[in-house]
Amino acid sequence: MRRQQWLQHAIAPRPIGMVSTIDAEGRPNLSPFSFFNIFSSTPPILVFSPARRVRDNTTKHTLDNVLTVPEAVIHIVDEAIVHRTSLSSCEYPTGVDEFTMAGFTPIPSLYVRPPRVAESKVQMECRVLEVKPLGQEGGAGNLVICEIVAMHIDESILNDAGDMIDPHKLQLVARLGGDWYCRVNEASLFEVEKPNQQLGIGFPGLPADIRDSRVLTGEQLARLANVTRIPDTIASFEDAHVRQIVQYFSNNPEEMEIELHKHAGKMINEGRIGDAWQVLLYATAI
Ligand SMILES: Cc1cc2nc3c(=O)[nH]c(=O)nc-3n(C[C@H](O)[C@H](O)[C@H](O)COP(=O)(O)O)c2cc1C
Repeated sequence: MRRQQWLQHAIAPRPIGMVSTIDAEGRPNLSPFSFFNIFSSTPPILVFSPARRVRDNTTKHTLDNVLTVPEAVIHIVDEAIVHRTSLSSCEYPTGVDEFTMAGFTPIPSLYVRPPRVAESKVQMECRVLEVKPLGQEGGAGNLVICEIVAMHIDESILNDAGDMIDPHKLQLVARLGGDWYCRVNEASLFEVEKPNQQLGIGFPGLPADIRDSRVLTGEQLARLANVTRIPDTIASFEDAHVRQIVQYFSNNPEEMEIELHKHAGKMINEGRIGDAWQVLLYATAI
């Protein structure tokens, strides 16, 4: 129990795939899975894992269904459908249609038999390629390896050009441990710039007095070390606060360096990496 708690709280947040399947009689079933991710884009492969129940080692309807009818529709869950998604996880008896129970609208798929959830903004029709059991005890997962054959994306989550998903528009939710979820929104979204073509200089490439700074944190140094080469000093670089620091601490070079590094640290936090480099190069030169 404690192992499950540690794993589910530490390996988080996890995306949620809500999976629609059918049984041999064609009766639909809907259940969410957060042991779920993408593992290849060409071919497009999704994997989710319905586990054997810890309490009695029985298997879930979703697993039984994909072993009988190897098709599924996997839906992305956003904030607009999170409570209905949670409701669909109730363990209703065989044959009970979770679409109805959870208040979702089923619509026909184009290439597979399980229906789609109309309310989900991304619906992926899949063929099940393989089911790999990871054990026989209660708690053992079963990897359901799926290839996407069609992807339906609601236009409302696309960017202005209409060709890419805009993360600001798709208000994703994700699962943590226990009953905890988190949301992706304006407050939680941020970018980490990564040079794709050229490599960052890395920590060893930083000038020693910057790398050994008593002020800058590892995270701040990482943002400096992301440049592809140490910037040139710009002779015309002007900054009022730098001028004040230099005047005020003219008799105390050690303090001056600390204050300049603090000032550069603030600039880094504001994303002004170029300016921060200029301040630090200035501090190095004096
Ligand atoms: C957000 C969410 C994520 C879940 N993730 C998983 C999971 O990854 N694996 C699993 O076995 N059960 C997971 N569950 C529980 C199943 O959804 C639940 O056991 C469901 O009733 C199974 O239904 P079925 O028997 O109709 O397949 C999750 C539940 C919720 C609400």
